[in-house]
Amino acid sequence: MNWWKKPNSKWLLGIPLGGMLAFILGALSLGAYHGVMDYTNNNAFCFSCHIGMDTIVEEYQQSVHFNNTKGVIAATCADCHVPRELIPKLIVKITASADVIHKLTGDIRLDNFETEHRPRLAKHVTQQFIDNKSKQCRYCHQIERMELENQARTTARRHQMMEERGQSCIDCHAGIAHKLPQSEQSSQPAQSENTQDESSEPSSRAVNP
Ligand code: HEC
Ligand code: HEC
Ligand code: HEC
Ligand code: HEC
Repeated sequence: MNWWKKPNSKWLLGIPLGGMLAFILGALSLGAYHGVMDYTNNNAFCFSCHIGMDTIVEEYQQSVHFNNTKGVIAATCADCHVPRELIPKLIVKITASADVIHKLTGDIRLDNFETEHRPRLAKHVTQQFIDNKSKQCRYCHQIERMELENQARTTARRHQMMEERGQSCIDCHAGIAHKLPQSEQSSQPAQSENTQDESSEPSSRAVNP
C-alpha cells in the first residue's frame, strides 16, 4: 500500500487545512481579546475619561503609587480596581461599560463631582475593598512578606493582628490614592479603632492623607 497516495480525495486535505484555519482564527481572536483587555487596563485609558470629569487622576498622580523615590509606577488604576481573575475581571469590564453612558451624558463634572458624586462612588468602592479584604492590594503587598521587625512597633503590630481582627487594608489605609469625600476626611479609622493597646501614634498623614 502506498501511504503517500493518501488522501485520495482532495477534500480530505480540507481537514488539516480547516484545522489550521481554525487555529489561526483562534489565535487571532485570543490576540484581540488580550489586546482589548490590555488596552482597557492601561492608565491612559482610565485617564481619558477621568481627567476633566473628576480630580481622581490628579490625586493619584500625587500619591506614592504614581510618584516615589524609586521612580516606578507602583500601581496603575487597574492594578487597584480591576481583579486579575478572569471571571471577576470580565464582570468589571462589562459593568464598567455602563460608565461610558454616564461619560457621554456628562452627568459627572468637575463642578459637581465633589458634592454630588464622590460620596456615593467612594462608598461603593470602599465597600468592595471591605468585602474582598482588599484583595487587589494583596496582589502586591503580602503581610507574610513584610519585614515586620523593620516597621515601627505599633505598625508591625497592626499588620500582625489584622487577619485575626478581620480587618481590610483600607480600614486603615483609606484614601491611599485619592482624597476622601469631605464628610469622611475627619474620621480616621486607623486612629479611632485599634488603639487600645498602643500609646504612641504613627504619622497619620500617610494613613489618611
Ligand atoms: C468611558 C469613560 C471611562 C473610562 C475609560 C473609565 N472610567 Fe471609570 N468611571 C467613569 C464614569 C462616568 C464613572 C461614574 C459611574 C457612576 O456614576 O456610576 C466611573 C467610575 C469609576 C469607579 C467607581 C465605580 C464604582 O464602583 O462606584 C472606578 C473605581 C473607576 N471608574 C475606575 C476606572 C478605571 C480603573 C479605569 C481604567 C481601567 C476607568 N475607570 C476608565 C468613566 C470612565
Ligand atoms: C493604590 C490603589 C489605588 C490606585 C492606584 C487607584 N485607586 Fe481608585 N480607589 C482606591 C481605593 C482604596 C478607593 C476607595 C476610596 C478611598 O479609600 O480612597 C478608590 C476609589 C476610587 C473611586 C471612587 C471615588 C472616590 O473618590 O473614592 C474612583 C472613581 C477611582 N478610585 C478611580 C481610580 C482611577 C481612575 C485611578 C487611576 C487614575 C485610581 N482610582 C487609582 C484605590 C486605588
Ligand atoms: C501593583 C502593585 C501594588 C498594588 C496593587 C498596591 N500597592 Fe501599595 N505600594 C506598591 C509599591 C511598589 C509601593 C512602594 C512605593 C515606594 O517606593 O514608595 C507601595 C507603597 C504603599 C504604601 C506605603 C506608603 C508610603 O507613604 O510609604 C502603602 C501604605 C500602600 N502601598 C498600601 C496599599 C494599599 C492599601 C493598596 C490597595 C488599596 C495598595 N497599596 C495597592 C505596590 C502596590
Ligand atoms: C489596623 C490598621 C492597619 C491595617 C489593617 C493595615 N495597615 Fe498598613 N500600616 C498601618 C500603619 C499605622 C502604618 C504606618 C503609617 C504609614 O506608613 O501609613 C502602616 C504602614 C504600611 C505600609 C508602609 C510600610 C513601610 O515600611 O513603610 C504598607 C506598605 C502598608 N501599611 C500596607 C498595608 C496593606 C497592604 C494592608 C492590608 C494587607 C495593611 N497595610 C493593613 C496600619 C494598618
